[in-house]
Amino acid sequence: MTDFHAAIPKAELHLHIEGTLEPEMMVALAARNRVAIPFASVEEVRAAYRFTDLQSFLDIYYAGAEVLRTEEDFHDLAAAYFDRAAADGVVHAEIFFDPQTHTHRGIPFDTVARGLFAAVEGAQAKHGMTVEIIMSYLRHLDEDDAFATLKLAEPWLDRFVGVGLDSSEVGNPPAKFARVFAASRERGLKLCAHAGEEGPPAYIHEALDVLKVDRIDHGNRAMEDPALVARLARAAMTLTVCPLSNVALRNVDTLADHPIDRMLDAGLRATIHSDDPAYFGGYIAENFRSVAAARNLSRAQVVTLARNSFLGAFLTDATLAGHL
Ligand code: ADE
Ligand code: ZN
Repeated sequence: MTDFHAAIPKAELHLHIEGTLEPEMMVALAARNRVAIPFASVEEVRAAYRFTDLQSFLDIYYAGAEVLRTEEDFHDLAAAYFDRAAADGVVHAEIFFDPQTHTHRGIPFDTVARGLFAAVEGAQAKHGMTVEIIMSYLRHLDEDDAFATLKLAEPWLDRFVGVGLDSSEVGNPPAKFARVFAASRERGLKLCAHAGEEGPPAYIHEALDVLKVDRIDHGNRAMEDPALVARLARAAMTLTVCPLSNVALRNVDTLADHPIDRMLDAGLRATIHSDDPAYFGGYIAENFRSVAAARNLSRAQVVTLARNSFLGAFLTDATLAGHL
């Protein structure tokens, strides 16, 4: 039986497609592509998923992406995700992919994009789901590399809704990407950045002031800075919060300590998403379900969170009205 948390229509706004690579698919693609992985079984892959912080996760996440080689692989990965998302009540998805994770291994940008867009068309036909793709720059690399990626993306730019900024946050502040974000905006792309996941509240200010982002990914650490909370609330800035990720990466000790309801109470437009669900133990409905149970959220709070996901989406006003 479908429960309330899966049934309520929602938009997925913070989902890395590479983070939906389930161990079963990792092992199957390793065999299909004859790629050596340091795991003998699905159980060994799962056993490796014990993280101490963001970097300990990213090391395994980038290693896992090694099995993704062909257009068909990217199609199969995304198609499997869209099936899961549809079952979780996702009617609109704006998903990230990390082009540099693949181009740095010699996989052409076009191979990745063709595979993903084939799956998007399939999801629209099969599930009636609307999907947008956000290309995310890796912040541990330099800005020139991001510019090279923007150039590779040129033939696809009218099909991407925006750009994002992810990977190792601390030591890689938003301002490092000021010029490439300006160039991305000039090309008509929406802007998001991971900020305040592990990095300090100052990084959130910088994402707003320097990058001029339209949406903040995570943003949990805003709660340490009352003036920043007031600013984000005033601006109705969406924060795409990922409860199971926050626990898995030790940004919060347990779900019972999660700040999601305190964020709503403070007037923040917080939403709930899944980040890298194959690695963190659950997709979007499980994020809703488990944090709602741990924090004793009311139905009204859950409805607000789902509604905020549409308010934060890069939808036109007419499409948005149809979802509210
Ligand atoms: N890439 C994939 N998941 C991420 C996360 N939670 N933070 C930063 N970069 C990521
Ligand atoms: Zn993320």
